Amino acid sequence: MKTFLSILSAATLFIGSMACTQQNETPTNALAFIPQPKEMQVLSDQFQLTRRAGITIETPNPELERIAHYFNSKIAPATGFELRLKQRGNIRFKLTDDTSLGAEGYHLLVKHSGVTITAHQPAGIFYGVQTLLQMFPPEIRGKEEQKNKVWKIACVDITDKPQFAWRGMMLDVSRHWFTKEEVKKYIDELAEYKMNVFHWHLTDDQGWRLEIKSLPRLTEVGAWRAPRVGQWWHREPQQPGEEATYGGFYTQEDVKEVLAYAAERYVRVIPEIDVPGHSLAALVAYPELACMKAPTTVNVGNKFYGEDENTLCIGKEETFEFMDKVLTEVAALFPDEYIHIGGDECFKGFWHKCPRCQARMRAENLKNENELQSYFIHRMESLLKEKGKKLIGWDEISEGGLAPDATVMSWRGMEGGIQAAKAGHHVIMTPAEHCYIDLWQGEPSVEPDTYSMCRLKDSYSFNPVPEGVPAEMILGGQGNLWAESVPTFRHAEYMAWPRGWALAEVLWTGPEQTNWDKFWPRVEQHFVRANAAQINYARSMYNAIITPSYTADGTLEIKLETELGNLDIYYTFDNTDPDAFTPKYSEPLRVPKDATWLRVVTYRDGKPIGKVITLPITELEKRAANTRRVVGNL
Ligand code: ACM
Ligand code: ZN
Repeated sequence: MKTFLSILSAATLFIGSMACTQQNETPTNALAFIPQPKEMQVLSDQFQLTRRAGITIETPNPELERIAHYFNSKIAPATGFELRLKQRGNIRFKLTDDTSLGAEGYHLLVKHSGVTITAHQPAGIFYGVQTLLQMFPPEIRGKEEQKNKVWKIACVDITDKPQFAWRGMMLDVSRHWFTKEEVKKYIDELAEYKMNVFHWHLTDDQGWRLEIKSLPRLTEVGAWRAPRVGQWWHREPQQPGEEATYGGFYTQEDVKEVLAYAAERYVRVIPEIDVPGHSLAALVAYPELACMKAPTTVNVGNKFYGEDENTLCIGKEETFEFMDKVLTEVAALFPDEYIHIGGDECFKGFWHKCPRCQARMRAENLKNENELQSYFIHRMESLLKEKGKKLIGWDEISEGGLAPDATVMSWRGMEGGIQAAKAGHHVIMTPAEHCYIDLWQGEPSVEPDTYSMCRLKDSYSFNPVPEGVPAEMILGGQGNLWAESVPTFRHAEYMAWPRGWALAEVLWTGPEQTNWDKFWPRVEQHFVRANAAQINYARSMYNAIITPSYTADGTLEIKLETELGNLDIYYTFDNTDPDAFTPKYSEPLRVPKDATWLRVVTYRDGKPIGKVITLPITELEKRAANTRRVVGNL
């Protein structure tokens, strides 16, 4: 009888695969899966992929044929061959009536003689293919043919299915513009880690990115702003006479192309039209939708909150006519049952001063502007229902009363999600402290500009189902990549990976089965795979964590740590570069007299691995004082 080892550690797999394949030279990193399969047994022997191998679709189905083409598209650049679909191939795809695998589960059996992937639904075959692809050496991801490479993998028996149905990644394409091809690349990269939702944040104050045919100014005007680089919120507003040349938008044909691409990867696409706040670009296009005075230029990333209007006027019936037009086209274009309506961070000050909004409040017996927002969201839900769609909104939609069937996306921590779930609403958990992959992922002084912290370990410690919450109400979770400080796609990748991989594992394998010490060694293996695929990622997990604080007697003390277990930390206070010959950290540091900088670096096995971090003592003092203030406030 077969014994299934539940969640084998990477280390066990490593040893297991070595033991059964030593004389045959199977790559030792071949079983470093992300996400970790639920059940796996490593068998003896190996399978070798050659150009003679064919793919057999045992259950005739056009989707399985499409998956075979997908598999070929992934291996062909590196192997130099594609597998033919044939009768007696040794990679077999098979659908089964057995429902125990669910809609996305699969069984992958790799034997010397061939590979069989069995699933109840085609999506399961697709995920089995992802697992299979991760077994091949990293070079399989290369762009160029590896002429003499032998494509051998270990024999395994894997049974796997996801913990959560909603495994998402969001991309904000408003703050910075990402082309259709870049969006497709993002979808491709998240699907490789068995994520299945792409949340497309299509509109915001800095650009409206979706063609709405009945409202052409949304993209003729609202998709364009003055070009700027540099720190977000500290930019010069568009100047008189300056042209708005930065931006872009997706035509509905572009969207259809992206949707087809996503569907081939079993990725749902959830469009977000962020209203009634975050609507500055829409107001520039259609100023009549503002309460008093719409801005005349799309925001470039300069501060404007509370000064320039960015909220739709809820007092005007035209606003609802506008939303009806927008949602009619969005509903017709996007096949998913959900449309995300935003609802976050809505500044209510203009509504407070607006005679029409105030008249609406009186007419509808609304006590305050929160209830006015709730009135708007209720009407959005009715509009969406008429169009056969369901509403999702950020957790602020609970303020003033949640619409009856709304699904809540909880981002300001978990609390909004917990309350909504307890009240019988579906919830997607995306708490910033675990899921905001736009935040720093390590020591800020050596990271690109952003604000606040969400380390890889924070993403990995995410549990979407907090204690006491009805688990069936939590659909899952997602990583949110806001793009204020993400000007290029290469940098989007840097922010997305490896934190997105951590979230993928939490959401597929399940938080109960995560193990940090066994995760990060696999992350390192996936860095090698990403290198081969020319996908960018952050190595921030190698950088030291520097935590200054004041002791009870007022002395500055500095703790140095690392996220990983096996790094050494070296430091200096004498303005020289730290290395393996400068002091090695062993206990909290006190600053020597007259020192002006602390420099820190991490090493592994005698070699530098993290960045050199240089911090003025004054900065450490400032951080320690901030920590004290926070603690003092509690
Ligand atoms: C958000 O981060 N404003 C949803
Ligand atoms: Zn108004």
